[in-house]
Amino acid sequence: MHQGVTAWGGLRKGAGGASWPALQIGDLRVPSPIVQGGMAVGISLSGLASAVANAGGIGVIATAGIGWDEPDFETNFREANIRALRRHIRIARAQSNGVLGVNIMVALTNYDDLAATAVEEGVDIIFSGAGLPLTLPKFTQGANSPKLAPIVSSGRAADIVCRKWRSHYKRLPDVVVVEGPKAGGHLGFKPEQIDRQEYALGKILPEVLETLAPYEALAGRPIPVIAAGGVYSGADVWSMLRLGAAGCQMGTRFVATEECDASDNFKQSYLAAKKEDIQIIQSPVGLPGRAIANCLTREAAKGSRMPGRCLLNCLKSCTGPKACFCISARLIQARCGDVLEGLVFAGENAWRVNEIVSVPELMDSLAQEYESRELMERASLILEIGREAASPA
Ligand SMILES: Cc1cc2nc3c(=O)[nH]c(=O)nc-3n(C[C@H](O)[C@H](O)[C@H](O)COP(=O)(O)O)c2cc1C
Repeated sequence: MHQGVTAWGGLRKGAGGASWPALQIGDLRVPSPIVQGGMAVGISLSGLASAVANAGGIGVIATAGIGWDEPDFETNFREANIRALRRHIRIARAQSNGVLGVNIMVALTNYDDLAATAVEEGVDIIFSGAGLPLTLPKFTQGANSPKLAPIVSSGRAADIVCRKWRSHYKRLPDVVVVEGPKAGGHLGFKPEQIDRQEYALGKILPEVLETLAPYEALAGRPIPVIAAGGVYSGADVWSMLRLGAAGCQMGTRFVATEECDASDNFKQSYLAAKKEDIQIIQSPVGLPGRAIANCLTREAAKGSRMPGRCLLNCLKSCTGPKACFCISARLIQARCGDVLEGLVFAGENAWRVNEIVSVPELMDSLAQEYESRELMERASLILEIGREAASPA
C-alpha cells in the first residue's frame, strides 16, 4: 500500500490536506467521488464492481444481457437474467462491504424484472439511462429503497424525469448522472451533436445543475450530480468538481484493469487502439454508440446487414431480424474475446490507455493526480495573494 493511502484506496488527509472529497448521497457516504460506470454485456460484473467498491468508489454491475453465460440464456431469457443478476449481486456483496450499484438500461425489454430483482437483493443504488427512466420509482417504494440515479444528457431530460417522478411517485432523484458525448457505449445525442461545443460535458453539467436547483429546494436536500463521459485523469475529476459536480463516473479507465470482467482480448484491444480507431456507429438500439473500429463496424458503416436470428427480443426499440446486426450477440462475442467481429464499446479516450493496472492502483493514481491539481491551484492562489500584497496600493 502506498504511503498515505487508506485500506480503501483513498488518500488520507495528510499534511497537504488536499485529498479528494467523499461523495455524499443522502445518508450514503462513498469514500471516493468515483462511480464505475455500468458496462454491458459482461464487462462490469461482480468482479469489477466489488473491486471498485472495496477501493472506495461505487462499484456498478451492468444488467443488460447479464445472463449471457447461463445455460438457458436463449431459451429462458427472462429467468436466466434474473438468476444471473441475483448471483452477481450476492457475489459482490460477499466480496465487499462497499457501495454497490446496478445499471439498468431503459431500452431493455426485461427492465421491470431487473429493477425488481435489484431492489429485492438490496443494492445501494440503481443507475438507469439509455432512455428516460420515467417509471423507475415504482419498484422502489418504502423505507429500504435503494438510491435512484437517472442518467441524462441534458438539463431538459433531468427536468422531465424530476417532474414525472414528483407528480407520479412523490419522489425526486437521489443523485443524477450527466453523461456527455465523449462516453463509451450508447450516447444520448444525435450524431450531428456529438462534436458540437454546446453539448460538451463542461457545458451540459452546469445546465443540469441549474435545472436541479429548484428541485433541491422542493426536496429540502441536495441532489448531487455526477459527471461522466471522457473523464480520464484525476485532474479531469478536479475540473468537474470545480464546475459543481459531486463526483465522476468513469467507464473506459475501468476496462483496463485486472479486475474488469471482460476477456483479456477485450482489454488488449483498448491498448492497441489508435485515436482514429475510436468511432461512432449507429446501434440497433436506435442511438449512436462509440466503439473501436473493426470488421463489424466497417460492414455496418457500409450498410451491410448481418442480423442472424433474433432469439432474445432484448431491446424495446430493436427491429429484431430486420436490424443490421444483433447487438447482444456482438457484445457477447467481443466480451468473450472476438474483438474483430464483436462490438467493442469504448469511450473517446480509449486510445490513451496504455497499461492494465489493478483497481486500487487506478484509484490511487486518480487520487494523487487530483491532489497534485488541487495543490497547484492552492500554490497559484498563494502566489497571486503574495503579488497583490507586494504591489503598491
Ligand atoms: C464497454 C462499455 C459498455 C458500456 N455499457 C453501458 C451500459 O450497459 N449502460 C450504461 O448506462 N452505460 C454504459 N456505458 C457507459 C459507461 O457506463 C460510462 O458512463 C461511460 O463510458 C463514461 O465515459 P468514459 O468511458 O469516457 O469514462 C458503457 C461504456 C463502455 C465503455
